[in-house]
Amino acid sequence: MKTLTTLALVAFTAAAAAPAFAEGDIAKGEKTFKKCKACHMIVAPDGTKIVKGGKTGPNLYGVIGRVAGTQEDFGKYSAGMKALSEAGFTWDEASLVEWSANPKDFLKAHDAPAKTGMSFKLKKGGEDVAAYLASVGPAPAE
Ligand code: HEC
Repeated sequence: MKTLTTLALVAFTAAAAAPAFAEGDIAKGEKTFKKCKACHMIVAPDGTKIVKGGKTGPNLYGVIGRVAGTQEDFGKYSAGMKALSEAGFTWDEASLVEWSANPKDFLKAHDAPAKTGMSFKLKKGGEDVAAYLASVGPAPAE
């Protein structure tokens, strides 16, 4: 898994402007996001509601490419998320897949305190959700 992730990261970085890494399916990801929206909304800075969702978790607009734990309207990040944030950890599609599958294990793997408010594990479809979130964020630089 570790090697796979590293490979994916390398591929992702190498591809730079090309958003495709594991070929997640955006349409499927939009459906899978229904599992996230109890806790997460997707709202653009201009107030456009892409997905109306709960406030238990941070707004996920533009989360791909954002430093972890820095959504300013969300004031209750865990110690684990704050540690990631301080380390300057930035979300990409590969790490979002890993995080969604198991937030606690993800924090452990990143030497952060394994305490998080996200008590949810996505069994499958992480790549699709990642592709979807990337697609609804700010347009990547061409
Ligand atoms: C039961 C509520 C809940 C569900 C369901 C949930 N999350 Fe979360 N999520 C949270 C909370 C709470 C946090 C903040 C975690 C922390 O501070 O440790 C969070 C944090 C995150 C972050 C980090 C955001 C940032 O600003 O750094 C991402 C990415 C994320 N969730 C993605 C997802 C995805 C994708 C799904 C669906 C597959 C999902 N979450 C489902 C509650 C939830």
